[in-house]
Amino acid sequence: MKLKLLLVPTIASLLSFTAQADEAAGKMAYMICSACHNADGQGLPLGDKMMAPSLVGSKIVTGDPSLLALVILKGIKKEGAEYMGMMASLEMAYPDDQKLADVMSYVRQSFGNTAAAVTAEDVAKFRVQWQDIKEPVSRAKLAELLGAE
Ligand code: HEC
Repeated sequence: MKLKLLLVPTIASLLSFTAQADEAAGKMAYMICSACHNADGQGLPLGDKMMAPSLVGSKIVTGDPSLLALVILKGIKKEGAEYMGMMASLEMAYPDDQKLADVMSYVRQSFGNTAAAVTAEDVAKFRVQWQDIKEPVSRAKLAELLGAE
């Protein structure tokens, strides 16, 4: 009985430690993105322009996670001069499924976003789903995929 009482708080603290570690891993994996999207997710201002758009409330970030994976893995075709930066393919930067899941979960659950977390198993499926796409996706294609959700 005494042992059981001791174990309950130990398990509880282990669980909360895991949750914190995940957020820390996400924050770490997000460092690449923050170069353009800023630490607060709102996009880094550069003079009177922006490096990249805000990720706050973005449908690509908070909607079907396969689209977020598509954008990170393949990038977005640069079609205008609205942003100083470019959303290049980051497939090489995230060879590890868990690391990509960490960064996806982080952007979906930070900056006021409240979408569900993504697992390494999900990421493995998204890699297969988009394996035939070899170049950055156009905004038109993204809009079409968003509409099909
Ligand atoms: C070198 C700069 C740069 C880096 C690094 C970068 N992005 Fe981007 N990102 C952009 C730019 C620029 C756009 C807008 C692309 C366009 O429309 O031409 C963009 C667009 C996006 C979008 C689409 C947002 C919307 O709603 O339209 C998402 C999602 C996104 N980035 C997520 C990420 C994530 C997550 C990372 C890190 C894994 C990341 N980006 C790293 C520059 C960057």
